[in-house]
Amino acid sequence: MPVITCIEDLRRLAEKRVPRMFYDYADSGSWTESTYRANESDFQPIKLRQRVAVNMEGRSLRTKMVGQDVAMPVAIAPTGLTGMQHADGEILAARAAEKFGVPFTLSTMSICSIEDIAAHTTSPFWFQVYMMRDRDFIVRLIERARAAKCSALMLTLDLQILGQRHKDLKNGLSAPPRPTIANMINLATKPRWCLGMLGTKRRSFGNIVGHAKGVGDMSSLSSWTAEQFDPALSWADVEWVKKQWGGKLILKGIMDEEDARLAADSGADALIVSNHGGRQLDGAPSSIHALPGIVEAVGDRIEVWMDGGIRSGQDVLKAVALGAKGTLIGRPFLYGLGAMGEAGVSKCLELIANEMDISMAFCGHTDIRNVGRDVLIPGTYPRG
Ligand code: FNR
Repeated sequence: MPVITCIEDLRRLAEKRVPRMFYDYADSGSWTESTYRANESDFQPIKLRQRVAVNMEGRSLRTKMVGQDVAMPVAIAPTGLTGMQHADGEILAARAAEKFGVPFTLSTMSICSIEDIAAHTTSPFWFQVYMMRDRDFIVRLIERARAAKCSALMLTLDLQILGQRHKDLKNGLSAPPRPTIANMINLATKPRWCLGMLGTKRRSFGNIVGHAKGVGDMSSLSSWTAEQFDPALSWADVEWVKKQWGGKLILKGIMDEEDARLAADSGADALIVSNHGGRQLDGAPSSIHALPGIVEAVGDRIEVWMDGGIRSGQDVLKAVALGAKGTLIGRPFLYGLGAMGEAGVSKCLELIANEMDISMAFCGHTDIRNVGRDVLIPGTYPRG
């Protein structure tokens, strides 16, 4: 077993172990992937201010996200098809998150269902919904999330239509998958993954198949998903979801200051500055670039979080310094999962926490809740 010291090590191992079409699904963005790349690279020019002879004892990364205690300002982002990176992937990731003390978010497009996660964890998790044309289906999903004691609902606003992802099209990754011959041959070189899949019954979309009208199996799923994402989604729908749910509401996919103000007006509890990990509008700015302006636009009216491009604890520290009260990680946990299952997700969380803790100390802080722009070198970070 190689020694894992950073997220990149997990990525390399996942690349070896996960079938090409599912690895590509995770490790890709839309069109030219410029936004996907910028999400990561825009963290690099931001420089940290090193301090010395400051007492660095008794450090804490603990904070709150929508009023919930978290071990660090990081949550697991909702990701579709996670159970294809590793058998029972969502259950394993939820368990790792629970043990670490960070929130896990289950995607509508997950393989394991809301009920699967509830049966295998004891801490409340979060559930993410897309606005579908079939509003009765949304009502039932919300009821299921409530019955599973989910402690927050995340409404994703940036997928009214799907960005074009070249690798998925070339790999025949659709619902159900139509793999190419090359993909089938590649599958045969991943015995560990195949054995895992043979050992589980969870191989289709657990929140949808058998629950959505007319979707009894994988073959009827394709036309359903093609039709269901609602291109007419509006702020009135956000209000409708808020009313249906009645609990903590998080709005995901805000990249514009005007939209951020509307999100604050909606009465939601948090918004996530996110471009869907560079998977939707290629050419949009990186999330870390958009963050300061949005923080300035909404002030304290709503909690502002961000996701996209976080690959280390230092990146989280920089986001917090620029005003994010929380962050989410997508690919880092997927790489961990593909590399080593639950142990890989735990490793990912440990790496991020450790990097954040040490870097925070070097910057002269002992409590993440007190970190602000003073840890950054002026002139190196984006401004609002
Ligand atoms: C996602 N993302 C996503 N978002 C969402 O709201 N619902 C979903 O089902 C998915 N599915 C999904 C699948 C995969 C494979 C990826 C990589 C991402 C977006 C995700 O929640 C998050 O915004 C990004 O992943 C954050 O960027 P990083 O951390 O991956 O760089």
